[in-house]
Amino acid sequence: MERILYLSLFILCTLHGVLDGAHFRGGILSWRPLNNTASGSTAQILVHQRYFWNREWGSFSVPYCTEANVAAQTPIPVGAYMTCLANCSSSNYPSGGLSANMITTDCDSNPIIQSWAGEHYDTLTLPLTTSITIGYPSSAWFASLYIGANDPWSIVSRMNLALRPDGLINSSPVTTTLPVVFYSTLTPIVHIVQMADNDGTDILICRWSNSASTTNYNRYDECGGICMGLPPSTVLIGSSCTLSFTLPTANLYYACALQIEDFYNTSSTTPMSSVPIQFLFYAYNPSASACAQRPSITSARPNKACIGIPVGVQLNETVIAQTYCPGQTIVDFVTSSPIGMTHSAISNPSSGTWIMTLTWTPVSTQSGPQGFCAGAIDNSSLQSDPWCITFSVGFISPELIQSSVAPMGNISQNQTVFSIQTTMAAKRPSRNGTYIHFTDSTNNTVVQIYDCSSAPQVTYINFTIVIRFPVAPWIPGHSYFVTFDSGVYELFLRHSVFD
Ligand SMILES: *[C@@H]1O[C@H](CO)[C@@H](O)[C@H](O)[C@H]1NC(C)=O
Ligand SMILES: *[C@@H]1O[C@H](CO)[C@@H](O)[C@H](O)[C@H]1NC(C)=O
Ligand SMILES: *[C@@H]1O[C@H](CO)[C@@H](O)[C@H](O)[C@H]1NC(C)=O
Ligand SMILES: *[C@@H]1O[C@H](CO)[C@@H](O)[C@H](O)[C@H]1NC(C)=O
Ligand SMILES: *[C@@H]1O[C@H](CO)[C@@H](O)[C@H](O)[C@H]1NC(C)=O
Ligand SMILES: *[C@@H]1O[C@H](CO)[C@@H](O)[C@H](O)[C@H]1NC(C)=O
Ligand SMILES: *[C@@H]1O[C@H](CO)[C@@H](O)[C@H](O)[C@H]1NC(C)=O
Ligand SMILES: *[C@@H]1O[C@H](CO)[C@@H](O)[C@H](O)[C@H]1NC(C)=O
Ligand SMILES: *[C@@H]1O[C@H](CO)[C@@H](O)[C@H](O)[C@H]1NC(C)=O
Ligand SMILES: *[C@@H]1O[C@H](CO)[C@@H](O)[C@H](O)[C@H]1NC(C)=O
Repeated sequence: MERILYLSLFILCTLHGVLDGAHFRGGILSWRPLNNTASGSTAQILVHQRYFWNREWGSFSVPYCTEANVAAQTPIPVGAYMTCLANCSSSNYPSGGLSANMITTDCDSNPIIQSWAGEHYDTLTLPLTTSITIGYPSSAWFASLYIGANDPWSIVSRMNLALRPDGLINSSPVTTTLPVVFYSTLTPIVHIVQMADNDGTDILICRWSNSASTTNYNRYDECGGICMGLPPSTVLIGSSCTLSFTLPTANLYYACALQIEDFYNTSSTTPMSSVPIQFLFYAYNPSASACAQRPSITSARPNKACIGIPVGVQLNETVIAQTYCPGQTIVDFVTSSPIGMTHSAISNPSSGTWIMTLTWTPVSTQSGPQGFCAGAIDNSSLQSDPWCITFSVGFISPELIQSSVAPMGNISQNQTVFSIQTTMAAKRPSRNGTYIHFTDSTNNTVVQIYDCSSAPQVTYINFTIVIRFPVAPWIPGHSYFVTFDSGVYELFLRHSVFD
């Protein structure tokens, strides 16, 4: 099978003269209905492709991308197609496939990353009988891989539009990653791959991609030459998509290929869809002069926050990194961005603080969840943990009515119930990472954080959000403020406690 793919790719090479070998660096596929309420026998499905390429991918009109190509939304002329690979007669998915030509979103000239990333969206009208595997198998991965050097790639997704038990059309899981994640050799690593889903109640599980094309859920080779591309002792906990491993050899890349699958409930044994995520780890030996502490991203928004933003309004978001040693500088932010988001040069407004500003005006075709990830890299090639947020485009958050807070002003020490009214019916966010913080302003310590997506202490009833503390944490004489993560603003409410 792999040989045949290689041959057909060879023909493409001859025709287009653009695919010049070892340039694939990973990718992500996903899809969702524009409206998950079925009407009639077809549905409009938005299909998303994101790939990472080698920046030094020769013979393009833009041989080495720069931030100017991100701003100009320069096409990446891949000249290939994501085609139907299994059970194709169940659908009218285009027989020639969907173009894999990208719009440039990220360009990274860091010598270790050298990545050129982009994405491509299509909207298809497909029959609800569709139960197909789509994907982009081709060649090749690059040479500096622990497993899979110069091998063909395969990246595939399962799309099944049969109605779910709740009568809705399914949306696939979504995920984000940096193209290359750096870790020190011989150090036990725990790496979490983000998983999310528009269908808030779905159970998400990730598993290793595999090439068992007669038995796997996709009925197709899911990973080409990089199946199980991490050291054999790697442990994957599927329910949280957590990888535990130690990278044995420095200056090598390790490819990771996973499928994220959504199940209707805990008793379901067959997933409703399957989406791939393929990316790289890079192993290094820290130099003697490197700081003992990696940089970290300390932006105001917490990692994994989900933020509602309107269409057509310019967003200015700062990514803030912290360094910890004299002489330690941030030389690069590696990113994975939506189309049209630009990245400023890095500034250093004060000692140990490094800032990059993101600017983005989402357009209406970007409505829905749009992921962004960043990692800060210092002058010794130490990389921070990834910081990923989801922008929910076109989602207008209900506004909180500040004057409606109950109780107001001074509260009693045993006060455990708070409520606030909203301008429109509010509902629990379907994704993790939207928080309510209660902070002791006397010593600026957070006394309580509730994740609004899951905390049972936070309830949403029509126009009211109610927060119930199991135990009141208040200290007499202290004052507290409450911070709500929300669309594009934060709201501060003051309370003082008396006894
Ligand atoms: C989704 O489709 C249903 C059924 O056709 C319709 O009633 C509903 O208004 C649509 N929702 C949106 C947001 O367009
Ligand atoms: C192929 O598609 C048909 C029609 O939707 C479906 O009934 C069948 O289960 C599919 N087969 C596989 C292997 O997915
Ligand atoms: C899971 O969903 C199926 C289909 O709706 C249902 O029959 C079953 O009772 C559900 N199981 C659980 C544990 O909720
Ligand atoms: C972002 O900055 C631009 C230019 O300074 C400004 O016009 C715009 O209002 C800002 N956007 C927000 C949401 O503050
Ligand atoms: C890089 O940072 C380290 C501290 O983290 C410092 O000791 C070293 O001198 C710096 N190297 C260069 C080349 O600037
Ligand atoms: C709150 O309590 C403080 C101290 O007891 C008092 O000085 C203040 O006037 C009170 N504020 C309100 C709004 O009741
Ligand atoms: C708090 O305590 C006061 C008296 O100590 C009592 O009257 C009041 O009902 C209590 N409030 C709550 C919410 O338990
Ligand atoms: C959200 O967080 C809760 C509590 O930490 C966890 O149980 C749940 O699995 C998380 N859900 C997702 C989709 O990550
Ligand atoms: C700050 O106040 C909280 C209670 O509001 C207390 O639990 C904590 O110990 C205090 N922290 C410091 C550093 O004083
Ligand atoms: C919420 O609103 C609905 C529709 O207006 C109403 O039927 C329901 O009783 C309300 N629920 C509560 C708890 O007020």
